[in-house]
Amino acid sequence: MRQKIVAGNWKMNKLFHEAEDLISAVANEIDDREPDCEVIVCVPSVFLEMAGDYAEESQIRTAAQNVSEHESGAYTGEISAAMLASMDIPYCIIGHSERRKYFGETDDLLLRKTERLLDNSIKPIFCIGEVLKDRESGNHFNIVESQLVNSVFKLNKDEFSNIVIAYEPVWAIGTGKTASPEQAQEMHKFIRGLIEKKYDAETAGKTTVLYGGSCNANNAKELFSQADVDGGLIGGASLVAADFIKIIYSF
Ligand code: 13P
Repeated sequence: MRQKIVAGNWKMNKLFHEAEDLISAVANEIDDREPDCEVIVCVPSVFLEMAGDYAEESQIRTAAQNVSEHESGAYTGEISAAMLASMDIPYCIIGHSERRKYFGETDDLLLRKTERLLDNSIKPIFCIGEVLKDRESGNHFNIVESQLVNSVFKLNKDEFSNIVIAYEPVWAIGTGKTASPEQAQEMHKFIRGLIEKKYDAETAGKTTVLYGGSCNANNAKELFSQADVDGGLIGGASLVAADFIKIIYSF
């Protein structure tokens, strides 16, 4: 059985006291009522220490939202994978479409970031997904395949076995337009098929593939009931404790 995950990507939201309120509400709930999934909060880096304190005392797990492709040195403002590892941060988002779009992150750069994380035993939550134009022209499978082939498929099987994939169609992110459960399942099955072709059936069967894009408390259950959807990477709905908690218990 592969690991099911519900991860909240907070992006650049919340002030310190709001962040603490949200994490403590979620941590208390999942400690009281064990969910059928791992629960991760992907917080802005200034909140990682506080979130890490909760992770030590509860079931909640933490993720960074970004990491440097460099090991260390004169890179003002950057955070290294070794720094994250030294704070016992187990996961980091890589390749989110917002970083690809606003910060020009390429497949090649994302592979280097992924390698830094793996060198430090941190699991990348690696995001892929097509824009609306590619969905409308029927090119979405090609785009997703090329995002994998040009980045994480360059890893060997052992390395790849530490990757979590998040399929996030860009047209569904923050738009209120969710992929239908059928669209999500179709793409997740395709992704798992690519992993099988590249590595083997065992690796494909074990890889967690999350869905992200306007996933909320009302649609999570149906999305998560699809055979190849192993949970979600949640944006807006992860900022409201009651909504995020409902999503966590949607399996
Ligand atoms: P929304 O859930 O707000 O659409 O964001 C999804 C996302 O980008 C998660 O990484």
